[in-house]
Amino acid sequence: MTRRAVVFGAAGQLGVELMRELQARGYATIGFDRGDADITDGAAVESAVAGHEADVVFNCAAYNQVDVAEREPSAAFQVNALAVRHLALACRQADARLVQFSTDYVFDGFAHHPYAEDDHPHPLSAYAVSKLAGELYARAYLDNALIVRTSGVYGPGGRKTARGNFVELMMRLAASQQPIRVVQDHVASPTFAPLLAARAADLVERGQTGVFHIGGGAPISWFQFARLIFQAAGVDPLVLATNHREYRTAARRPQYSALSNAKMERLGLPPMPPIAKALEEYFADRGRPAGATSQAR
Ligand SMILES: NC(=O)c1ccc[n+]([C@@H]2O[C@H](COP(=O)([O-])OP(=O)(O)OC[C@H]3O[C@@H](n4cnc5c(N)ncnc54)[C@H](OP(=O)(O)O)[C@@H]3O)[C@@H](O)[C@H]2O)c1
Repeated sequence: MTRRAVVFGAAGQLGVELMRELQARGYATIGFDRGDADITDGAAVESAVAGHEADVVFNCAAYNQVDVAEREPSAAFQVNALAVRHLALACRQADARLVQFSTDYVFDGFAHHPYAEDDHPHPLSAYAVSKLAGELYARAYLDNALIVRTSGVYGPGGRKTARGNFVELMMRLAASQQPIRVVQDHVASPTFAPLLAARAADLVERGQTGVFHIGGGAPISWFQFARLIFQAAGVDPLVLATNHREYRTAARRPQYSALSNAKMERLGLPPMPPIAKALEEYFADRGRPAGATSQAR
């Protein structure tokens, strides 16, 4: 029997890849972007989930403007928390599974090891609080929700979204011919969107519930990541290391937010390839005509 999937936030970096991944796996898939269904509208969410008779609902929609959220915390909370409640209620009503994506920023960054799923969350910003509240809403109404926490997502879709991604930001800065300053004292797990989509689909197909981390693999500072980006792109701008004291932002961010993929790997899912390899694929995709598919798995 054909499995039926609904993807919210289908035009975002992850949404684009999940649509592609699910279709390749034979799911009857329908994607909603913000224009089709605003997830803060409970009636629209309920009708999208029920109307498609979804078996599984992926929520890739999110309010991701971490610094702006400090000025408008309620806007972040509407999308990242209360809308997840709408989604959870709609899934419960339709007997569908919910896959909710969350963030490494639920942690405070005081650890010195990649965070595991049972490490204690302690968010440091309005964005991070709203994402953690979204996790709680999903789990409050559903016993079988799957929460996938990820980090620094970059995918070819980021070339078209309003928010973009770190790779595209670095490429814009490189084109400006100015020295580029990148923080060296913040470490994360930048994650390639096609791989995130594939691993998330694997978890669903293995019937997994609860919290899973899917990060990009080896922990890396944003400075080192920028250098790998320029290597993969074949450009050589001047990149200078800075730190969070020199580079102040409105939102507090965890200094160390690398995610451990050990729980996912214990299930037999493939480990993430080296970041340099994922970037190679990113830049190969970047040069491909629109609609051509990525090879990353
Ligand atoms: N990007 C990262 O670095 C990062 C890091 C950790 C975790 N995550 C999580 O990973 C998931 C996927 O992120 P991503 O990088 O794919 O994000 P993205 O590229 O910013 O895409 C998010 C999508 O959500 C849409 N959206 C925003 N508000 C909406 C609403 N009220 N109703 C419907 N759609 C709405 C956006 O539409 P508009 O373009 O119209 O706003 C956009 O298409 C999210 O849960 C995010 O929190 C991301």
